[in-house]
Amino acid sequence: MDAIRSSVAAMATFTIKPAAATFSATIEGLDVRDLDGESEAAVMQAMDTYRVLVFRNQDLTPDDQKRFSERFGPLVRVPYVKPLDDHPEVIAVLKEADEVNVSTFGSWWHSDFSYLEEPPTYSILHARELPPVGGDTLFADMIGACEALSPGLRATLDGLKVMHSGHIYGAKLADTGEQGRMRSVEVATGDPDADVERAHPMLRYHRPTGRHALFANPTYTTRFAGMTPDESKGLLDYLYTHATQPRLTWRQVWQPGDLLMWDNRAVLHLAVNDYDGYRRLLHRTTAGSEIPIGTPDQQGTA
Ligand code: SIN
Repeated sequence: MDAIRSSVAAMATFTIKPAAATFSATIEGLDVRDLDGESEAAVMQAMDTYRVLVFRNQDLTPDDQKRFSERFGPLVRVPYVKPLDDHPEVIAVLKEADEVNVSTFGSWWHSDFSYLEEPPTYSILHARELPPVGGDTLFADMIGACEALSPGLRATLDGLKVMHSGHIYGAKLADTGEQGRMRSVEVATGDPDADVERAHPMLRYHRPTGRHALFANPTYTTRFAGMTPDESKGLLDYLYTHATQPRLTWRQVWQPGDLLMWDNRAVLHLAVNDYDGYRRLLHRTTAGSEIPIGTPDQQGTA
């Protein structure tokens, strides 16, 4: 990793500083509106290395954010979530000050829309209005988690598929009742297309690095393919506990102007809902998508 870090640093005038030992980094001294071919390549390389990047001090309009995002793949119109009226590729992740004791958007560990046939690759959040305290975003390193498994468990998981579906998120939201349901982000639940189960490899091949990531999450994964939810629960719960242990996580403590970007193929994230009484607004874009594969020889199916 040191070699990659120094070659990245040598190519550009901005600094890329690792934020934790195994994943995540902060980038300072770069205005993402001014990327050229060389700096874009350096950012892309850093993205593959660190999986989560924070670009400090970005002053962006929604159009600027879209232009930056589409460098990493076609903009994805997020399904089932109402976008900004004038920017259908941007969603407002918002909780108003008077929304207290409600669930918030993304407050359980997940990889974005992992139940889609081609889940989105990169998600990008820009801070617009932050609470004075709280409202952090947590990340779990699923490549680190995969590589920290014993050889025996890893071999057991190799080749298995897990089923993903939107319906358990819908059920969790329904459980909160009308009073407990967020108001400012409109999420459609009960859509038959979202509620269908789709199989993805448990060990997902990460195309840019050739490494593998655990690809399951408690928001959308229902069971192992060919097993019942009850049979699957013990092992899935073990894997979530393993993957979210503190040494494999990193916490984004937001600063005004932060632009945060992550690789959904390789990390889980969670919005910490601990700022009741304050408004929090972030703009979110999503770029690129691909069919998850378990081995490089499945490349052709993507
Ligand atoms: C999300 O995109 O899941 C929301 C993250 C956040 O609000 O911090």
